[in-house]
Amino acid sequence: MFLTHLACPRCGARHDSEALTNLCSCGSPLLARYDLDAVRAAVTPAALAGRGADLWRYRELLPVRDDAHRVTLGEGWTPLWSADRFGAAIGLDRLLVKDEGLVPTGSFKARGAAVGVSRARELGARHVAMPTNGNAGAAWATYAARGGLRSTIAMPLGAPLITRNEVVAAGGELILVDGLIGDAGKLIAEVVAAGGVFDAGTLREPYRLEGKKTMGYEICEQLGWRVPDVIIYPTGGGVGLIGIHKALEELRSLGWIGDKVPRLVAVQSTGCAPVVRAFEAGERRVTPWADARTVAFGITVPAPLGDELILDALYATGGAAIAVDDAEILADLRAFGAAEGLLLCPEGAACLTAARLLRSSGWLGPSDEVVVLNTGAGIKYPETVASAGA
Ligand SMILES: Cc1ncc(COP(=O)(O)O)c(C=O)c1O
Ligand SMILES: [Zn+2]
Repeated sequence: MFLTHLACPRCGARHDSEALTNLCSCGSPLLARYDLDAVRAAVTPAALAGRGADLWRYRELLPVRDDAHRVTLGEGWTPLWSADRFGAAIGLDRLLVKDEGLVPTGSFKARGAAVGVSRARELGARHVAMPTNGNAGAAWATYAARGGLRSTIAMPLGAPLITRNEVVAAGGELILVDGLIGDAGKLIAEVVAAGGVFDAGTLREPYRLEGKKTMGYEICEQLGWRVPDVIIYPTGGGVGLIGIHKALEELRSLGWIGDKVPRLVAVQSTGCAPVVRAFEAGERRVTPWADARTVAFGITVPAPLGDELILDALYATGGAAIAVDDAEILADLRAFGAAEGLLLCPEGAACLTAARLLRSSGWLGPSDEVVVLNTGAGIKYPETVASAGA
């Protein structure tokens, strides 16, 4: 394994990667760092080609030392589909959708859970806890069960019903909260303070991010080790966006993708858009969004802990942040299904609304190669799909 240490992106402190660790003492999330020179000497892109069709094909760039601790249900290596008919309808010649609905538990959260649970187990955790908007809790409870760990998951009453049931079905302890993810976080802080439980909340441990960054590796590998012009991502806690940005930087340092930088786009809902508001003001920190609500429940995060990392990724890549309307999300969910035969999750549909709006404003050109992340399976949201009339 090539993991060397954990680094604080805010204060520069270096932390041991071989102990269970949460935030830096300065309050920032920590990032896993690898000996990339040694990785470059050990493996080439061509050597990856024959490996298994899951995220563990990138094992040199993942934090699990001993394969015996790998907790897997076959996550990753999802298809990157061209969406020519919907693309033509909105004026994009090269629109691609990466379908994370095919991952175990029906969302990209399984990537973070697979790597996060594996590493937590390797470092001695026996019980993990987290607040969630639904899908992450479902995935972590599932992978915890697979790895023989206990889980305690707190989620808002408004989270998709199936994600509650997934937690219970996996033997997790479910706490329902009449509030939003921040309220769930307060309850989990009490559980963690009581001892014996590892806090696996969004960006509170460094390895969920490592699982999610593999979306970025896959996009590049599936394009033949090159980058698209733009990547559009539905941003709640922002782990996927931060992860993709980290992946692209690592691949650039390895010399595997050249120097071109894709513009990263964070998509939020007009009902909860703290990142968009900060981006438009040119700031690096968000102010909490009051009275947050949207049909795209996964991106209802009023005050993401990783705000600096999200905003830095947008500024560094010449990207954008855009808020979209619930009614338009539902209309695009329906239009995309009819044009392409893929039932999106509402968060994925929000990204297609964003693509449409960015094309009409001219921010996207007609021949830009645009990759959209559909972060979950539409069939996890029967009520949303019904209200979209799909
Ligand atoms: C389907 C879906 N998409 C996107 C997100 C947002 O994820 P992130 O924390 O990476 O911004 C979530 C989070 O719950 C989700 O469930
Ligand atoms: Zn720090």
